[in-house]
Amino acid sequence: MAPARDNTIVVLVACFVMISAASQTIRPSCQHKCGTVNIPYPFGTREDCYLNSNFYVACNTSHKPPKLFLWNVTKNIEILEVLLNGHLRVKSPVAYVCYDEKGVLVDSGNSSMTLQAFPFSYTQNKFVGVGCDTLSTINATIGKNYSAGGCFSICSSVESSTSGSQFGIGFCQTSIPKNILEYQARVMKSNMLHRNMNIPCSYSLLVEEDSFKFSTDDFIKLQKRRTVPTVLDWAVGNLTCEEAKNNLTSYVCQENSVCIDSQNGRGYLCGCFEGYVGNAYLHGGCHDIDECADPSLNDCSDICINLPGSYNCSCPKARKYLGDGRKRGSGCVSNLQRVVNEIVIGVRDPTSTRD
Ligand SMILES: *[C@@H]1O[C@H](CO)[C@@H](O)[C@H](O)[C@H]1NC(C)=O
Ligand SMILES: *[C@@H]1O[C@H](CO)[C@@H](O)[C@H](O)[C@H]1NC(C)=O
Ligand SMILES: *[C@@H]1O[C@H](CO)[C@@H](O)[C@H](O)[C@H]1NC(C)=O
Ligand SMILES: *[C@@H]1O[C@H](CO)[C@@H](O)[C@H](O)[C@H]1NC(C)=O
Ligand SMILES: *[C@@H]1O[C@H](CO)[C@@H](O)[C@H](O)[C@H]1NC(C)=O
Ligand SMILES: *[C@@H]1O[C@H](CO)[C@@H](O)[C@H](O)[C@H]1NC(C)=O
Ligand SMILES: *[C@@H]1O[C@H](CO)[C@@H](O)[C@H](O)[C@H]1NC(C)=O
Ligand SMILES: *[C@@H]1O[C@H](CO)[C@@H](O)[C@H](O)[C@H]1NC(C)=O
Repeated sequence: MAPARDNTIVVLVACFVMISAASQTIRPSCQHKCGTVNIPYPFGTREDCYLNSNFYVACNTSHKPPKLFLWNVTKNIEILEVLLNGHLRVKSPVAYVCYDEKGVLVDSGNSSMTLQAFPFSYTQNKFVGVGCDTLSTINATIGKNYSAGGCFSICSSVESSTSGSQFGIGFCQTSIPKNILEYQARVMKSNMLHRNMNIPCSYSLLVEEDSFKFSTDDFIKLQKRRTVPTVLDWAVGNLTCEEAKNNLTSYVCQENSVCIDSQNGRGYLCGCFEGYVGNAYLHGGCHDIDECADPSLNDCSDICINLPGSYNCSCPKARKYLGDGRKRGSGCVSNLQRVVNEIVIGVRDPTSTRD
């Protein structure tokens, strides 16, 4: 009786999954790409394609190739990459000042950004100052609180500044706090008539740490570069996982997924279970990884059996192999091999070869 009932349940669940998968995963009319940037759900360019207006992005095809922008969160912030792990790589402006040999300001630009949602990542970004005798400052409002910070960079000679060194002369950096939705960066030179006139400009930038390894070339390269990559932390809604799970109508994490509280501001993220990959915000989005199809994902010596979220190894049944079937375990030892071993240790076996 029990097994029959179990089967019925399995069939019903399978049907439910397939129907919802058909209605949500397949969104043929949604734009999945803008230029080189992928647009995964919950982000989208049209009303039935995004989760809510925070995830509304606009593809501007006047640019060649087209460029993707955050739209309702704040207009005109260009998106470089949308990552399902809760990061969004965007372009942010560089603040700069340039002086001529007489110490006269010839060029300058301030840097500021204001967002309505998706705070600047405090784990992936650094506030960086580049230049000689340069004070770089950043101020921000966190909720209703005002916060400011900065760093000072000096140089005696460019030659003494080591490429890639975080403590190199002419370069300084500091971390930023959580929950920043708005900032202003400024850069000031305390000694405009610096002896090193091949370094006419100073810069300050809020930049993705991994994409910016300081080298003395940056003194020159940043002159042509008005923007750098910066990481935003996106999340769904403003509830914690625990709160969100109380209302399954509005809870967005789909089957085979886990809920993760945002570490930067309010809201939560969804991620696939271990052994699954895909988009946890879509029905049927998280699909099982077939570890057996990729030899680097399993360590079976003979037979690999893919299981939901994992895999199992076994040995051929027919000839009574023994062992755990794992390359890093005992592998599979055939019965014949066992018989040989038994003969060696002197145990007579009638099925063994005559001698
Ligand atoms: C974007 O925001 C504006 C005002 O803040 C609102 O009127 C509009 O409906 C929003 N657009 C979308 C697509 O949500
Ligand atoms: C698209 O980009 C062009 C060129 O920068 C600009 O003139 C236009 O206003 C943009 N369109 C929208 C809808 O923002
Ligand atoms: C930068 O901001 C400062 C102070 O707000 C202002 O005095 C200066 O003119 C600004 N520079 C530019 C290039 O906008
Ligand atoms: C940063 O300070 C300037 C004055 O120096 C002020 O006008 C601006 O509003 C501040 N920005 C933030 C985000 O608090
Ligand atoms: C603002 O500062 C107060 C007092 O230091 C603190 O209790 C509060 O948590 C801060 N608010 C935010 C949003 O950081
Ligand atoms: C959470 O979001 C909802 C809808 O966007 C809004 O009405 C509510 O005020 C927000 N709550 C908090 C604590 O921000
Ligand atoms: C659950 O979420 C749905 C959809 O957002 C909403 O209409 C409903 O009022 C919520 N229920 C409760 C009890 O908050
Ligand atoms: C995995 O293999 C082990 C040892 O062969 C076996 O005991 C276990 O039942 C297998 N698990 C599944 C889910 O097949």
